[in-house]
Amino acid sequence: MTKLIKNPAIPNPVVEVSLSSENAETEVRRRYEDGNLIILRDFRLDLDYKFLASISLDVDGPPEYRRKLKKFPMEKIKNLEPSTKDSFQRFVFDVVFGGDTGRLNQFREQAASGDRQVYALYRRLFPRYDEYKAVYTWRFTETMYENLHWDNLDTSDDFHQVRVFANLDDRPRLWCISERIDSFAARMYEELGLGQFASETPDRFAYSLNNKILGGMERTCLDPMQRHHLAFAPGEVWLCESRLVAHQIYSGYRASAAMFYVKPESMDDPELRFHARIIRLHEAKAVRQASQQA
Ligand SMILES: [Fe+2]
Repeated sequence: MTKLIKNPAIPNPVVEVSLSSENAETEVRRRYEDGNLIILRDFRLDLDYKFLASISLDVDGPPEYRRKLKKFPMEKIKNLEPSTKDSFQRFVFDVVFGGDTGRLNQFREQAASGDRQVYALYRRLFPRYDEYKAVYTWRFTETMYENLHWDNLDTSDDFHQVRVFANLDDRPRLWCISERIDSFAARMYEELGLGQFASETPDRFAYSLNNKILGGMERTCLDPMQRHHLAFAPGEVWLCESRLVAHQIYSGYRASAAMFYVKPESMDDPELRFHARIIRLHEAKAVRQASQQA
């Protein structure tokens, strides 16, 4: 069970839902579209956690290889050939998997099974959602003290995002979360002069908030935001539209995260998607400013 320390100074977007409760799927969908972080009670991915705990990309080796491994996509491990001639890939096979094809294959099977189970969960919770893209990532390196941010996906496309996270480590995964982007921006619009970013795409608007207002990675943990603190238990699964809820990984080692890009018209309420919220925010502020000047 997640250990949550709520900060009474800001709204609490964390909702726990048991999938065995009546109408659980409808409740998850409604709360998710509302912009909450949903923790699923009584749900775990069926994986070999003991085996996964024995796989790490934080290994000893030449600094150049260690650096590369920090950003080594899991996709490449899934496609790694034991007979590879590439010296870096050879290093990964030898050091991460101990030169053991059986371990490499077992890892691939676990990753494929985990991704299949996440897709089945997504389909169960959002049966009418029409997704046009899915991205599955597995992170098996240490992450510590990220900066608090709303996700930038480097696109001006207008879509709804479903994000499913799982803590695959045997230790808690520590996050801090803060306000929803639209409520924070509405509250601080005039004080922070956010109108200067009104012509940017919603994605770039979030980028400006992260970097020009909160200070980006250079001021990690030194931003002025109020936070809730969460420790996700080993195996726990949660969902969060990471462009809506400000979040920061404090500490984590092994996790998977899946992203589903959903057509807005298939949502229960398309007006609740990220894009629409940001457009509405700027429009409301522009109307207010115009009426004040009139
Ligand atoms: Fe993020």
